[in-house]
Amino acid sequence: MIQSGFAPRLLAWYARHGRRDLPWQQDPTPYRVWVSEIMLQQTQVRTVIPYFRRFCQRFADLPDLAQADQDEVLHLWTGLGYYARARNLHQAAGRVLAEHGGRVPQQLEPLMALPGIGRSTAGAILSLALGQCQPILDGNVKRVLARCFAIAGHPSQAAVQRQLWQLAEQLLPEQGCGPYNQALMDLGASLCSRSKPDCAPCPLSGICSARLQGRTAEFPGRRPSKALPQRACRLLILRDEQDRVLLHRRPPSGIWGGLWSLPECPLDEDIAVWAGRRFGVKLESVEQLAVVEHSFSHFQLQMHPCQTRITGGTLAVMETELIWYNLGQPEKIGLAAPVARLLARLQAQLQTSG
Ligand code: ADE
Repeated sequence: MIQSGFAPRLLAWYARHGRRDLPWQQDPTPYRVWVSEIMLQQTQVRTVIPYFRRFCQRFADLPDLAQADQDEVLHLWTGLGYYARARNLHQAAGRVLAEHGGRVPQQLEPLMALPGIGRSTAGAILSLALGQCQPILDGNVKRVLARCFAIAGHPSQAAVQRQLWQLAEQLLPEQGCGPYNQALMDLGASLCSRSKPDCAPCPLSGICSARLQGRTAEFPGRRPSKALPQRACRLLILRDEQDRVLLHRRPPSGIWGGLWSLPECPLDEDIAVWAGRRFGVKLESVEQLAVVEHSFSHFQLQMHPCQTRITGGTLAVMETELIWYNLGQPEKIGLAAPVARLLARLQAQLQTSG
């Protein structure tokens, strides 16, 4: 069910609390609103204001911008970040001059065909500059709608995105689309913040599903976890006659930096040959243990533990980054978590067998 009170509440709030003195709200031509909307992507209003002023002083209209050197455009963007925005804006201005006679298109499709203008930005330009009845859906608006209508899932998911756009369209008022869109963006950027929504003064608090259910923190939903790239390695459990296991300390930075771990033999190497070369030891037959999986932030590691007894040879104990870890009397050292679990299992086995 679509709330009939949604737009009137927002518009009443905007009439009392909205900002109407921002520089792009004075003389809101499609060109000026376009420049402001591009600057406002990923950047806060108070940061944008001086950049917008300087930019529009130098490039007062679209032909000015289209005919400028890219270097000068980038110079005026310096400090604002995300410079692809400036390059796209400049390139798009060139296209508007060449293809539309220098007049910013006043319809959704030709606007969205320009570099850097997505559906929401096009909607903002058409509604804020020309009063057209077009929906917007930037990150802040997505949050407001996801909360008010308790839309589950993350906005990056296609089905969620579709639902949100549908809502954005259905909620548009017949009159006052410009102020309505501005109100939605302002509410998302102020009261309906991501981590600490200020619900008491919010004009939507009486109809907001998330608020009424006490679940504002649950909307929008979390980003679904990505399928991580897979890596695999072989962990060698080299055990001597006294039930000691050889450990090495990992380099100070990187995964498990500075922690003690089992030696890793590349998957394509013969274990006995590799251990002989690396540690000067001779091995008994090798027993494969159950695979252990571990997720890091950017990949998943599949570890293949291989247990073997050392039957002879001389271990190069000169290295300070190698130790014998006594399963019967384990030392208190920093171990990589999956390695600690593996060793604990071996210790348990040792105790039950001994
Ligand atoms: N973010 C993007 N467009 C905006 C606008 N017009 N006002 C406030 N924040 C915005």
